[in-house]
Amino acid sequence: MEGGDGAGKSTQAQRLAAALQETGRTVLRTREPGGTPVGEQLRALVLDHGNGDIDARTEALIFAASRAAHVQQVIEPALANGTVVVCDRYVDSSIAYQGAGRHLGTESVRTLNEWATGGLQPDLTVLLDVDPERGRDRRTAGQATEDRLESEPDTFHQQIRLAFLEAAQAAPDRYLVLDAGRPVDELAGTILHRVEKLLP
Ligand code: TYD
Repeated sequence: MEGGDGAGKSTQAQRLAAALQETGRTVLRTREPGGTPVGEQLRALVLDHGNGDIDARTEALIFAASRAAHVQQVIEPALANGTVVVCDRYVDSSIAYQGAGRHLGTESVRTLNEWATGGLQPDLTVLLDVDPERGRDRRTAGQATEDRLESEPDTFHQQIRLAFLEAAQAAPDRYLVLDAGRPVDELAGTILHRVEKLLP
């Protein structure tokens, strides 16, 4: 599940996981950065204000380190026993935020992440496309403070939005791109329908 801040990814990840569980499937819902003890510590390190300056390369490596742990310790073992993995953010977030937003270049961030993940790709990426201004309104309504990345200006979030859309355009078969402004139930229904087609 990918998209800008305030797109409603977590709600949709929750809805999808619950709907799949109701049909009797084993589902793991997880998130990045995080998902493992080391990943949760890296999450706090990179998202909290007050850890001093974190330059762009260091930031990209922290997200990649969290992802490497997540893939090896959690995602691959789950997939190996037939569990459906619903993950809130993955490689595309790094390509968009660090590659485009931080200007590290989408290709170098892609290469770094291929190494970190051993090349593991999602069967489907749901991109909840959100206008940055609307995303900001939605997330500030739900929480008191913004993290290090969220508090970047709207121009940063605009670059991220475009990078997500470009990734989707480059591999349309592996993406479901939806307007995050659509009603929650409608989005949940569309996502479930598409995911069910992928499952045996
Ligand atoms: P998220 O968990 O979606 O935030 P929240 O729980 O507050 O909704 O993501 C945290 C932030 O980290 C978000 O602003 C996007 C950023 N991020 C990156 O910059 N690169 C990455 O690779 C990932 C996974 C997240």
